[in-house]
Amino acid sequence: QQKTLKDAYKDYFPVGVAVAPRNLSGPEAEFIVKQFNSITPENAMKMGPIHPEPGRYAWEAPDAIVAFAQKNGMKVRGHTLCWHNQTPSWFFTDDAGGQVTREVLLQRLKQHITDVVGRYKGRIYAWDVVNEAVPDTGTSIYRASKFYEIIGEDYIEKAFEYAHAADPAAQLFYNDYNTESRAKRDKIFQLIKKLKEKNVPIHGVGLQGHWSAYEPSEGELQESISRFASLGLAVQVTELDVSVHVKEHGRRERTEADNAPVAPEAFTRQAAQYEMLFNTFRKNRGVLTGITFWNVSDKTTWLDNFPVRGRKDYPLLFDGQLQPKPFFNKIVDF
Ligand code: G3I
Repeated sequence: QQKTLKDAYKDYFPVGVAVAPRNLSGPEAEFIVKQFNSITPENAMKMGPIHPEPGRYAWEAPDAIVAFAQKNGMKVRGHTLCWHNQTPSWFFTDDAGGQVTREVLLQRLKQHITDVVGRYKGRIYAWDVVNEAVPDTGTSIYRASKFYEIIGEDYIEKAFEYAHAADPAAQLFYNDYNTESRAKRDKIFQLIKKLKEKNVPIHGVGLQGHWSAYEPSEGELQESISRFASLGLAVQVTELDVSVHVKEHGRRERTEADNAPVAPEAFTRQAAQYEMLFNTFRKNRGVLTGITFWNVSDKTTWLDNFPVRGRKDYPLLFDGQLQPKPFFNKIVDF
């Protein structure tokens, strides 16, 4: 009998998965409960989906996900309270159709966070409070988002303070991608150091972990974990997947190459990469407090539409039939 992820890692960290409500019935639901002991809503708790109009919340999907977790004794990571993406435009617009003032936007942010965190108080153990606030390029540590432009840099600390007030026991995370790139890592480090110095209630850093068969290296990953841990924070990998494609950012047009089958070599590299990642995770026992996969299996993954629509990817541990990949044993038997 093959070990499951949650059993293999029970003395290390919870192993989670990002889900949509459609994943939570039928054979897939059973499979999720068998392999994982933590859940993240892939989209259902983001500002747009959960708060589509002023004063109206769409609780059905997020409630269903939290109820599923409770019924099955799983933890829930909340994702995400403040992000420049998937935020409805009404948030930034006043009654006359102009741009809201700093005061109004802060009030809306406070109301949103208080309502969402408050509803699940005691049932969501960790929240990604602010997501992707640091830009990939340039020297500023602040992404030029609407939150930043309208409120200023303190929107970040305010978001953490509102979340902490709504559920003082919840662990609050800053979450980002490309955290292994030296330049971006340094900027995230500076941002979080500033927050810590101001006694902002932040407890952890989420490394999203949208990696590939070719990156990061063990050294780069270890450096990121150690650096953030040195700030006295918990570190989690919050959105793990390992693309079989070489990472490209910014491409929008499909090319002929996107139709080609993936070379067997890429799957060999992926297996080695997954082995390296889990070896490194185990070496960081006590520092890494959670690992979450971004989607259930290769049947559907957000990477099928990124960076271009319809290029199939195979980034997870389980194939389209929910069968573990051949190297799975190396992940659970160590
Ligand atoms: O819900 C609508 C549906 O009504 C419509 O018919 C359909 C048509 O395209 O779109 C649906 O919305 C899509 C939504 O996923 C739900 O499937 C959006 O177009 C699509 O943009 C959205 O993508 C999500 C993406 O975040 C948005 O940026 C992905 O599912 C989700 O996996 C992805 O997750 C992010 C993390 O939150 C943050 N870190 C990066 C990660 C990957 O991009």
